[in-house]
Amino acid sequence: MLKDDVLKLIYHGEDYISGETVSRKLGVSRAAVNSAVKALREEGYEIISSTNKGYLLTKCPDVLTKGSVSVHLPETVSRNVHVFESVDSTNNVLKDMARSGAPSGTVVIADHQTGGKGRRGRSFESPKGVGIYLSYLFKPESGFDKISNLTSWTAVAVSDAVYNAYEADTQIKWVNDVLMNRKKICGILTEVTVEAESGLIDNCIIGIGINVNESSFPEDLSQIATSISIENGGKNFDRSLLAAELIKALGDIAYRWPDDEYYLNRYRQCNVTTGSKIVAYPQLAENSQGRSGTAVAINDDFTLKVEFDDGSTEDLRSGEVSVRGLYGYT
Ligand code: BTN
Repeated sequence: MLKDDVLKLIYHGEDYISGETVSRKLGVSRAAVNSAVKALREEGYEIISSTNKGYLLTKCPDVLTKGSVSVHLPETVSRNVHVFESVDSTNNVLKDMARSGAPSGTVVIADHQTGGKGRRGRSFESPKGVGIYLSYLFKPESGFDKISNLTSWTAVAVSDAVYNAYEADTQIKWVNDVLMNRKKICGILTEVTVEAESGLIDNCIIGIGINVNESSFPEDLSQIATSISIENGGKNFDRSLLAAELIKALGDIAYRWPDDEYYLNRYRQCNVTTGSKIVAYPQLAENSQGRSGTAVAINDDFTLKVEFDDGSTEDLRSGEVSVRGLYGYT
């Protein structure tokens, strides 16, 4: 869209940029540039226009649009980024695109989800205008054996993106909750489709929901969940910048997959699960009794080594653990 291209030019200009330069660079008329500037102002961009000097961008609103995310990305990446105001679930939208042949690296972002999906069939609250709901299509050439590591690599990518965007530190609770000050700011849901004939992986849809600018949470969630804003004194954060850093970090995963020691080292560095008392819940039994023990290590394959109170030791691959000291477990 023309307004996105105009935004890219005026965003990166350090000084006024003339209307003539914009129209020449984009190969469109001055009138078309004027209407694009008008559309950007309607979105909340503050753009000064001076008869002799041209345009100067002085303030950006906190919107999530194709243009606001793309200003932070090279064109080769941003051409595969699709941003929507509202969808049921970004994972569902991307799954449909993948079926129609979308390439690896395709991204779907929404400002709002009406049917956001969480793990174990739960729903994921996705209010408008405050969070990032993003799905990334990854088509690995490797087989199934390492794919369970992908979700841990993604937690590292989220931690890196938050740091690169805002210089803020996060922690990781096994297996892939990303926390700030010991409360959850991000959930990850990875959905994989497999080609029936070959048994090879077709598509991995990596879905990430980040609480960025929420100012409060319902009573039942407030022990567990927080937002980056709440943990930083109510400051408002630029969601487009974080979305772009996330896309870059996910691109790094696709490039470095399946073997790179960095992800295991960084995962261990951010991990807040080991050394704590835990209760482990097996994968499929939602209301099952948990087993108490102590998390002792993150193994090289990202499994969690647990010494249970009955004296047995197990390496957990999946399922959920409650960790003492987190989410109200005392
Ligand atoms: C969880 O913690 O239970 C996982 C939550 C994953 C939510 C994200 S938001 C973007 C993507 N689309 C969805 O419907 N879910 C994931």
